[in-house]
Amino acid sequence: MSTTATKTSVQDQEAKHILQVYKRMPVVFERGEGSRLYTGEGDSYLDFISGVGVASLGHGHKALADALSAQAHTLLHTSNLFFHPLQAEVATRLAARTGLDRAFFCNSGAEAVETCLKFARRYWHTQGATGRTKYVAFKQSFHGRSMGALSVTWDDHYRAPFAPLVPNVVFADPADVAGLDALVDDTTAAIIVEPLQGEGGVRPIPQAMADAIEAACTRTGALLITDEVQSGSGRTGRFLYGQTLGLTPDLVALGKALGAGVPVGVAMFTDAVAAAASPGDHGSTYGGNLLACRAALVFLEALASPALAASMAAASDQLFSGLAAMKRRRPVIRDVRGAGLMVGIELSFEAGPVVTAAFERNLLINRTSSTVVRLLPPYTITTADVDAALQLLEDAIVAAEGARQ
Ligand SMILES: Cc1ncc(COP(=O)(O)O)c(C=O)c1O
Repeated sequence: MSTTATKTSVQDQEAKHILQVYKRMPVVFERGEGSRLYTGEGDSYLDFISGVGVASLGHGHKALADALSAQAHTLLHTSNLFFHPLQAEVATRLAARTGLDRAFFCNSGAEAVETCLKFARRYWHTQGATGRTKYVAFKQSFHGRSMGALSVTWDDHYRAPFAPLVPNVVFADPADVAGLDALVDDTTAAIIVEPLQGEGGVRPIPQAMADAIEAACTRTGALLITDEVQSGSGRTGRFLYGQTLGLTPDLVALGKALGAGVPVGVAMFTDAVAAAASPGDHGSTYGGNLLACRAALVFLEALASPALAASMAAASDQLFSGLAAMKRRRPVIRDVRGAGLMVGIELSFEAGPVVTAAFERNLLINRTSSTVVRLLPPYTITTADVDAALQLLEDAIVAAEGARQ
């Protein structure tokens, strides 16, 4: 861990002038290369969280850096007042990847969710069904921290200080198909679901529930919003994790990995829902500016490479089989869940001390829900990175377990 004047002065300044809503790890990173981050003193850390699922192409990616530099020298921002040289190109690629027709560009996952929530209601308003305003969300969900996204987020710890939230939200249990059926009716504007829940503990929606969601939408006409901010953009092997479950959403929220480090959020619409939108209904000054679109294009180009798809699949197999072997050796590992490069490791005790022990061993991971360690490595990790991470993680689990005794 670094202990220089630089780190101390950064921490002092932050303590005075930054809103204290984050518990930061005591380190300042100044440089990155591939799946490694470096402090000013040259200490190196293996990054298996990639800025919470964002640095999809790793750090210091040359093609991305060159493209962003060229874009910055050409044109950065013109707003949405004018036709745009890049948005349609990104939207066309996203339409091909998702099967949805139209894109709205914004700057974060929460904004993408917010957009989906607004336009689900807009759709019914246009149909004259103004009473059709209910959202059915899920227990353990996380959709972001703006008022709308927070309103469909489950954890009361996030919600309670900001009440009252957007009304007419109910929560279904992902394990209770009959419960969902009882909640979805002809007052439901939309069901919103993360097909693979992230912050709630890396929990895939059971196939039976995915089928029930589809059936409930068919039965009542309710729209389906899938939040693929974390699980989408290829992280699990398919472009959307919902494609694995056979979900057919009307609206999809994307973010995180899509910008590879540049803030990009996108709400995807079917033509049927998009038809309800009128100029002025929604907007974003920055949304989809040239820098953001350039980043998304570089990312989508890289994702289309068969070599990247093959190395991601190999890294994922290696990670899951290594963790399965670790689980057999370490009974404190209760479960290993997820898909592709989105992995949750459920422990029999609090995950926080494991994250700290991993950090002390220069491995960056994090915790979701209380007992789950989460791995969201860059898509570009190598077999050597996976080997190293597995070893460091096991050492960290052993150390945290030992400290409890
Ligand atoms: C599933 C999901 N939706 C929405 C968000 C919010 O994204 P952002 O932090 O970019 O606003 C997150 C962030 O973790 C997320 O995991």
